Amino acid sequence: DRDVPKDCSAKRQRTDPKVPPTLPAGPSRYDGPFPFYRRPSEMGRFSLDGQRCYHGDARKLRYYAPPPIEGPSPGFDLRDGYHDRYVRRDESIREGLEHLLRWVSQNRKLLQSEDKGRPLNADFITWRGHLTKVLTTPYETQEGWLLAVSLFRGTLYISEVETEAARKQREERSELLKELTYMGYKFEQYMCADTPDGTPDPTGVVNTNEGFCTVIRTRLGTHSLLFSGEVDCTDPRSPWPDPPSCYVELKTSKVMHSPAQRRSFYRHKMIKWWAQSFLPGVSRIVAGYRGPDGTIVGLETFETMKIFQLIREDPGCWKPAVCMNFCAAFLAFVKKVVTEDNSKLVHLFAWEPGQPVSFTVHRDSSYTFLPDWYVDALST
Ligand code: A3P
Ligand code: MG
Ligand code: MG
Repeated sequence: DRDVPKDCSAKRQRTDPKVPPTLPAGPSRYDGPFPFYRRPSEMGRFSLDGQRCYHGDARKLRYYAPPPIEGPSPGFDLRDGYHDRYVRRDESIREGLEHLLRWVSQNRKLLQSEDKGRPLNADFITWRGHLTKVLTTPYETQEGWLLAVSLFRGTLYISEVETEAARKQREERSELLKELTYMGYKFEQYMCADTPDGTPDPTGVVNTNEGFCTVIRTRLGTHSLLFSGEVDCTDPRSPWPDPPSCYVELKTSKVMHSPAQRRSFYRHKMIKWWAQSFLPGVSRIVAGYRGPDGTIVGLETFETMKIFQLIREDPGCWKPAVCMNFCAAFLAFVKKVVTEDNSKLVHLFAWEPGQPVSFTVHRDSSYTFLPDWYVDALST
């Protein structure tokens, strides 16, 4: 039981102020009612073009255009174009919060607060993907994380730092994994059009520099959140016509043949899919199932809000409430720990499977992540 040390460490923390506090991450102590989570609302949008340049508009938004009938094999060949029509984003470039901060600095008026010392009306600003990692932490057994936090003019900024293990994995990624990654993007190309009434063009180039991002505001318990996340497409014929509900998340996964395979998929993969889409209020996830030859052999649509019904029959499965309660506890922990308002001060929160969340403090170090241009823009 991961939670065994909780009582003694809590006691030690109360009696010894020199021992820095930690946050337990095992699922048992976060089991309880689902916390308050305000319906996410879209505050804005931006796009990244084929050269990874920022544009404060929706030019890279794509439109959901599935094949006419769902169910039978659409026959998409996900390997097509891997060698000759693939422009891959350089993942060694660490962008941090850069694009999101650009949106924030250009849209300050939308976020103005009453409070003079606090230019932005948000407790936390971060990427959706960072929060997805926090949500899945109580159930994660493979990959740890590092999250850098700075408090600047009343708002806490969270920016991920690549772990050594993740860097190694990225640099040593096998040819098979590289092709699988491509296949995920190729699926998007088969399912999306550039215009609301258009049809997909699978003869085009797959360029993973391109992206469309939504900027979302919401509240988890007592924490107001502003985050941005990349969105695969919007459905112009969605039963919920407004963003973010009209957005569709596309995913690929290996085709399943047995109830045991499906259970394992629900336990280990669905948690990530759910967390990613639930946070920004994306209402549908469309799965493309990959056959052994790299073609799509079936499609299945999941309603994000109904996923908990699929998993609750399985007592060994993850619980959405645990994910959200842990996230709320982590944000409260960050608020308690990071109290000095200083854009150059970084608290680095670290978590490894089986361990509680801990942190280290870094002043004027290479961990500093808020860019000078942003600090200047928000100081005037
Ligand atoms: P699949 O998820 O269908 O495999 P997203 O699903 O978040 O829109 O991401 C699109 C694709 O990017 C993924 O498609 C996958 O190919 C790739 N991708 C996303 N996150 C990744 C990660 N952590 N490592 C490797 N590839 C990733
Ligand atoms: Mg995506
Ligand atoms: Mg996707």
